[in-house]
Amino acid sequence: MLRAVYPGSFDPVTNGHIDIMERSSKFVNTLIVAVLDNPEKKSLFTVEERVAQLKEVTKHLPNVEVRSFYGLLVDFCRQVDAKLVIRGLRAVTDFEYEFKMALGNRKLNEDVETIFISTSTKYMFISSSTIKEIAMFGGSVEDMVPQYIKNCLDEKFKSREEK
Ligand code: PNS
Repeated sequence: MLRAVYPGSFDPVTNGHIDIMERSSKFVNTLIVAVLDNPEKKSLFTVEERVAQLKEVTKHLPNVEVRSFYGLLVDFCRQVDAKLVIRGLRAVTDFEYEFKMALGNRKLNEDVETIFISTSTKYMFISSSTIKEIAMFGGSVEDMVPQYIKNCLDEKFKSREEK
């Protein structure tokens, strides 16, 4: 049984992330989408909100589980009995960061392998941070996130304006 972990901040999940989940869930038995719970990092959505959003947008993928994790990714992999980590690569600019992380994880636990999936070209320019910026200033994030996430962004920025 092949179990893989797809970790990230997912603040928020984008169509690019969902594309990676759809494609990788086809070749593993179980894909565990793992949301990093990092109290040090300022995020727009709480970890609970991100987990709920991910559950909603992966409803069509029966072998996908959504969890949060705190601490080292390799420790989480051990807890959930997964030896494969999946990461998406958009462009060469992602490479150095991803490569360092993969090497670091392998140093921490040589049983955990990282594999990279190249993004589909239509999602190459999408990132959670650009989406947050566009949504914050009222721009259109259509085609970049599912409608459900668009609504969450609208609600979040509306409630911030009201404060
Ligand atoms: O979506 P992101 O922010 O690029 O995801 C980064 C993430 C969550 C995969 C990475 O920060 C991570 O795995 N953090 C957990 C801490 C850890 O294991 N650090 C050692 C890496 S060598």
